[in-house]
Formats: sequence, structure tokens, C-alpha cells
Amino acid sequence: PYLLILWAALGYLLGSIPFGMVLARLMGLGNLREIGSGNIGATNVLRTGNKGAAALTLLLDGGKGAAAVLLARAFAGEDAVQLAALTAFLGHCYPVWLGFRGGKGVATFLGIWLALSWPVGLACCAAWLVAALASRISSMGALAAAASSTFWILLIDDGSGFLLGILLTLLVFWRHRTNIARIRAGTEPRIGKA
Ligand code: G3P
Repeated sequence: PYLLILWAALGYLLGSIPFGMVLARLMGLGNLREIGSGNIGATNVLRTGNKGAAALTLLLDGGKGAAAVLLARAFAGEDAVQLAALTAFLGHCYPVWLGFRGGKGVATFLGIWLALSWPVGLACCAAWLVAALASRISSMGALAAAASSTFWILLIDDGSGFLLGILLTLLVFWRHRTNIARIRAGTEPRIGKA
């Protein structure tokens, strides 16, 4: 159990690095809290107008989720892997460094699934792309990726990630509750527009 606690802590620490916030600061793009949705993720970094910084945020926020999984897989057992994945996601959404006011977890979610099961990860990325391109709304992509993930886990994987899948999906929806309210009200901004 001590080892599991260690992997949980490591996952959380990795996940809690707010790359979007750090990059925006370092690159002089301003304070993400005062831009767009105020979120720390790649979508909001894109609203600064810097596509490179947004892409890098997506890569790094996804990479930290993947890193938590791959490290746990390399040095511990499969139970540590799912735990590290979950705590990395929670770290991104509730980072101690930002008073537990973190992001919405989408990039980290995708990175986690790409590392846990790349076919599931790819299918989630595809769902994100299709929904986001069709609606021109980033959060629609997020909700489609999360909502379809359990289906992919059962369809193209062995189902061992089922519970984790359900939990992450619920958390993604919970973190997007203001986005969902805006989508319903028709006021959610389109990608490329402030
Ligand atoms: O990944 C977060 C995205 O789905 C929504 O971000 O900034 O539009 O709330 P934002």
C-alpha cells in the first residue's frame, strides 16, 4: 500500500503542473485567468492568439498524463498504473499550487488513454476532432471524447479500464458544467473566436 500511495502522489504531482499557465506567463501572453474562459487549458491558451503555445500546452498537458501511466507501468504493477492515471487527472483539475482551481482535464484525459490503451486514446482523439470540427466548439469535442470513451474501452479494449473510464468521464462532465450550461444557452464561444 505504501508503494501505491507513492504512485498516487507522483501522478498527482505530475498532473498538477499547470503547463498552460506557466507557458502563458513565460511567453508573455498574460494571465489566463483574465482571458476567455479563465481556464488554464490549451483551448484558452489559443484565445491569446498564440497557436504554438496552445499546441505546446496540449502536448505537455497530455504528456504529463501519459508520463504518469508509463512511469507507473515501467516501475510498478497494473493497479498503480490506473491509480497514477486517476491522480494525474485530479492533479490537473485540482492543483494544490493554484488553490485547487485547475483545468478541465481534457488533454490529460487524452494522454492518459493514449498511454493506457492507444486504440482507445486514438478513438477518443477522433471523437474530439469530429465533434469539435462539426460544432467549432472545443468543449463539444471534450464531451464527445469523454462520453464515447467507455464505449471504446468495451469495444476495442479488454474492458479492464471500465471503472476508470466511467470515473474520468463523470469528472470531465463535472468540470465542463459551465460549458454545458453555455452550450445549452447557445453562448459557448466557437474555436478561433474570443
Ligand atoms: O479542454 C477544455 C475545453 O473543453 C473547454 O475549454 O476554455 O472553452 O472552457 P474552455
